[in-house]
Amino acid sequence: MSATTTSTAVGTQPTPADVTEVSPESILQVGIGFWASKTLLSAVELELFTHLADHPQDLETLRARLGLHRRSARDFLDALVALGFLHRTDGVYRNTAATDAFLDKRKAAYIGGMLEMANARLYGLWGHLTEALRTGEPQNETKHGGAPLFEQLCADPERLKQFAAGMTGTSRAVNLEIAKRFPWADVATFADIGTAQGDAAVQIALAHPHLTGYGFDLPALAPVFEDYAHQNQVDERLTFVPGDFFTDTLPTVDVLVMGHILHDWNLEEKRSLLAKAYDALPAGGSLIVYEAMIDDDRSSNAVGLLMSLTMLLGTPGGFDFTPSECMGWMREAGFRDARVEQLTGPNSMVVAVK
Ligand SMILES: C[S@@+](CC[C@H](N)C(=O)[O-])C[C@H]1O[C@@H](n2cnc3c(N)ncnc32)[C@H](O)[C@@H]1O
Repeated sequence: MSATTTSTAVGTQPTPADVTEVSPESILQVGIGFWASKTLLSAVELELFTHLADHPQDLETLRARLGLHRRSARDFLDALVALGFLHRTDGVYRNTAATDAFLDKRKAAYIGGMLEMANARLYGLWGHLTEALRTGEPQNETKHGGAPLFEQLCADPERLKQFAAGMTGTSRAVNLEIAKRFPWADVATFADIGTAQGDAAVQIALAHPHLTGYGFDLPALAPVFEDYAHQNQVDERLTFVPGDFFTDTLPTVDVLVMGHILHDWNLEEKRSLLAKAYDALPAGGSLIVYEAMIDDDRSSNAVGLLMSLTMLLGTPGGFDFTPSECMGWMREAGFRDARVEQLTGPNSMVVAVK
């Protein structure tokens, strides 16, 4: 369906339909986009792609293995074919190259942790967006008197592990870029602040064997970080530092990294974290801040803007920001030579020097 150009009467206001072809396609695609999104999230939850990575299977075998109802199985699996996440040949389903590489739990490149978190937590939160838009209040566990997220996660080792693996899934591509792009040859030590599982520290250490690094996070993250560093065989050069970044001092190293940290907090808290980073660094030390930063015109990086709405839903005062805003706060904290670099997809890093 589309409406095409018609002549515009003199003196009347031209509408989009007067000057260009319009179609409802993108409205419908986004409007019911959650159908496709939740189908993929449920497939990850059911570990479908991990099962199929072993051996391609037909409908009945797969249905029994995943415990699916007869009514749902065929439509579910064929929807995944139509969405481009599975192939089906002669009734046998198999992963695509991408789902095999990134959604098989046993492969190192698995990014499903992020999708598991989206399924278990964000999908429900986003159901309350209108209320958050009206009230400005988070719709998370604190809404009904529960403890804040990080407190709850730290009290539940399984959820904490899932969250930390989810962060690795979100950040892996960016971490690889930062390991490649920053002039690491010129430094000896670094610390990743709010490290979670420690993927940034691990990727930087793997790419630069001369570096010694630290992962700083709440004490409950210690085993999660240490296991991950061990699995990646960099545990001899990476040490976990337990602490609270609001009350403890940060490690003194040549480079501090803060990935997806500032966006969790309100402006005053952001400023206090930047001041702490400044205090900890030696003269000439650098701070790297990376996020899905909103473009300066606030009109094109939809992921950055939607991430900021996710912060609205999940935190009391968090919000995402533009590189210019970040560089401004860094200069106020005393940093110099702030510069921005576009990384993969919607992500950028801002680097500044003490
Ligand atoms: C959104 S995650 C970012 C993880 C990782 N940097 C990344 O980008 O993938 C925020 C991290 O900050 C940690 N964190 C939250 N509050 C903290 C605090 N007060 N002190 C230290 N770490 C904290 C959380 O445990 C979590 O690992």
